[in-house]
Amino acid sequence: MDTNNITFTAENDVLSVLRLGKITLKGIFQVGSNHTFLVEVNSQGECIEAVYKPTKGEQPLWDFPSGTLAKREVAAYLISEALGWGLVPPTVLRNDGPYGLGSVQLFVEFDPDGHYFNFTDTEREICRSVAAFDYVINNADRKGGHIVRTNRGHIQLIDHGVCFHCEEKLRTVLWDFAGERLPERMCSDIADLATAINSFGKLRNMLSKLLSISEINALSDRANSIVASGCLPQPGLDYNYPWPML
Ligand SMILES: Nc1ncnc2c1ncn2[C@@H]1O[C@H](COP(=O)(O)OP(=O)(O)OP(=O)(O)O)[C@@H](O)[C@H]1O
Ligand SMILES: [Mg+2]
Repeated sequence: MDTNNITFTAENDVLSVLRLGKITLKGIFQVGSNHTFLVEVNSQGECIEAVYKPTKGEQPLWDFPSGTLAKREVAAYLISEALGWGLVPPTVLRNDGPYGLGSVQLFVEFDPDGHYFNFTDTEREICRSVAAFDYVINNADRKGGHIVRTNRGHIQLIDHGVCFHCEEKLRTVLWDFAGERLPERMCSDIADLATAINSFGKLRNMLSKLLSISEINALSDRANSIVASGCLPQPGLDYNYPWPML
């Protein structure tokens, strides 16, 4: 996990600050279709910068139920953690934000030019796991600018508001790996994820507060299907790319 300019010993410390800290508005991001705020979160002398996306600031969409994007942000973090891939910065749901219910995600520092389209070959190779992740979460908007190299040199993913739809929605810039074999380790991580979702334990319980039952079942079906095929997906929709792509 990238902890930027803060010194925490464990991810739990970041999560507990995000979960319990006092949230103060610091600014608004002038890009993006939804209202997205920079905030500071303070708890017991610890202060971290975070990105707050209130459900009230979400633009209505024709295909996703209103007021659910923030929950999808949190669900994407849970799946990244369940896979053990550490791709999504720590993200929690808060119902006491300055504008009410919303996601609060650790702010990651990155150079705006440090994105997928400018990655080295080694960094692009890491994106094989991102392609698998996006298939599993059914990401309808994987822009190149939302796969970033943080100032600490880690690849991190942001913006998961439009994921987990029951119907196929995969729109991504990551078609370089289409149809290629999924590495064995990723396959077994995804198989373990499907088992965890279907075991009705802690993960499923947490997901059930964020997604509908049909969305959770569709998530589990996609995980099983990519494991069964052993290959990264091929473009399936007429419109496979996000817009804009960066
Ligand atoms: N965790 C984060 N760390 C740093 N910056 C972030 C983070 N999450 C979001 N941002 C910044 O906030 C901007 C808007 O966030 P995001 O792209 O998630 O919102 P959006 O409304 O879904 O945008 P879009 O319409 O482009 O899809 C991003 O382009 C990025 O600059
Ligand atoms: Mg978005």
